[in-house]
Amino acid sequence: MDQSMDMVRVKDSDCEKIERIGRDILDSCEFRRIIGQRHHIFSTVGYHSVHVAFMMLFFARIFRLSESDAVRGSLWHDVGIYDRDSFSGSRDTAHSHPIRSLESAEKSGTINRIQADMIANHMWPVTRKRPGTREGFMITIADKCCAVTEFLRLHNDRVERVLKDIADEVD
Ligand SMILES: [Fe+2]
Ligand SMILES: [Fe+2]
Repeated sequence: MDQSMDMVRVKDSDCEKIERIGRDILDSCEFRRIIGQRHHIFSTVGYHSVHVAFMMLFFARIFRLSESDAVRGSLWHDVGIYDRDSFSGSRDTAHSHPIRSLESAEKSGTINRIQADMIANHMWPVTRKRPGTREGFMITIADKCCAVTEFLRLHNDRVERVLKDIADEVD
């Protein structure tokens, strides 16, 4: 493979896509406050959100979904979990955090109907309302797959790289 092809591959890596498409979200105070929040016992909400974005980019390639919606809906979907102590239990957490996440995302003034569906209904079938879009349905799968692999501590170096880039920016 020639050098120019290598450059294209590096430029279009999923790490860079997530950082480019989600730049404003990764820089927002809503996202910064979830980076260190514990999640799925061995993970954090920040790690999990970027992890879901990687899996949704994978699904976007297979099912020809919008990469922008895949990344942005994923990065927003759990920003409502910024204070675990404010939930009264796991049932309340499951039902309340998508509502909080959607409120935060809507305040940004950047989300569309597809991203709103991804955020609001990603906990289905734990929550009653079914997603109404393909992206909303795919994130219900990505969210659960990522949660299981995080619980099994199968950590992904590419997720760590995005989080390190965010941390380096703050320093
Ligand atoms: Fe969630
Ligand atoms: Fe999640």
